[in-house]
Amino acid sequence: MDTVAFSVENVRKDFPILSATVNGRPLVYFDNAATSQKPLQVINCITEYYNNYNSNVHRGVHTLSQLATEAMENARLTIARHLNAAHAHEVIFVRGVTEAINLVANSFLSLVPHGWQVLISAMEHHSNIVPWQMAAERYGLKLRVIPMDSNGVLDIEAYDRLLMEGNTALVAVNHISNALGTINPVKQMAEMAHRAGAVILIDGAQSIPHMAVDVRSIGADFYTFSGHKACGPTGIGVLYGREDLLMAMPPYMGGGEMIKTVTFEKSTWAELPFKFEAGTPDISGAIGLGAALEYLKSIGLDQIASYEQELLEYATAALYEMGGIRIYGQAPQKASLISFIPDGCHPYDVGTLLDNYGIAVRTGHHCAQPVMDFFDIPGTVRASFAFYNTKEEINLFIEALRKAIKMLR
Ligand code: ALA
Repeated sequence: MDTVAFSVENVRKDFPILSATVNGRPLVYFDNAATSQKPLQVINCITEYYNNYNSNVHRGVHTLSQLATEAMENARLTIARHLNAAHAHEVIFVRGVTEAINLVANSFLSLVPHGWQVLISAMEHHSNIVPWQMAAERYGLKLRVIPMDSNGVLDIEAYDRLLMEGNTALVAVNHISNALGTINPVKQMAEMAHRAGAVILIDGAQSIPHMAVDVRSIGADFYTFSGHKACGPTGIGVLYGREDLLMAMPPYMGGGEMIKTVTFEKSTWAELPFKFEAGTPDISGAIGLGAALEYLKSIGLDQIASYEQELLEYATAALYEMGGIRIYGQAPQKASLISFIPDGCHPYDVGTLLDNYGIAVRTGHHCAQPVMDFFDIPGTVRASFAFYNTKEEINLFIEALRKAIKMLR
């Protein structure tokens, strides 16, 4: 698909839900960091699978099974190309980032000697904290945290020191913080991890929808994302892993599809990627995710990134102009989301009142309780923008926010 000049009016026509009304008002959907909306190109692709060639993959000689297998493996290839992976078999289908991280935490860390350390950052989502805590306990490893400053910027010197202070097996960090919007210097962090003999896992849940990602140029050993935040379906995601690492790792789940041979005494494992894909996969999800990435590419990832920066700057300026708003996350490199609290208001009340005006924002700790603890707040209101949002929608949001704050103060 060729990229055409970006027109938000044209893009919006691809998303049926954007013409919905909520509480009698036109929907303003600013909860994109939680999940994105889906374009017709993805919805139709999934419907077509169920209408025309629904069948199980990899095991059937019949025509429909072959069509489904071909569509699923084409999606894998599309995803590999999107990430600039060296091989399609480095793309493992999983349910989402959470499953991918659990897979690496259980499988890769089982190979690590006792007493080694895993580094995570102070701005991680729970899915990039808890699996490492559980695995560290199981495998006798230490879990240490790279600190951040009050702007939500990671302390790279402290990271360097932590890398040198022990035997570091793995660093796990998000590409973009879901709670603060910080874009982390993952390429630099990968270089530093490699110099220290560690591998790096990058949680790309918030980056894949917003920017071009090249896993080889970044130097990612593992990179993971969820389909549903990138215009794809829920329940499907990707773990990219370097071939040599995946080959060395034991399977995470056992069952059908992931085996070469099974006897009651012993089983042997299938080749990549199937070694890590036990059971019938989410076939329609994989095909839909391939379509979603094709769609993002047709819009143009660089165009998406620059348009969303415009939205971010516009909304940030409008919030500052209102006054009495504290924004959490002021990193110089920031993605299109704003976490904030209006003085004297509870985030939940603000979110509930905005909903009355048809405006969908997220409130709470955003599955990043340590970030909220760092700022000593219960949570924030988070407005997160996508390439199908407009400045007119931001104006509606600001107007509704003014009214909400007036009611609450
Ligand atoms: N992780 C999702 C979010 O940030 C749900 O909202």
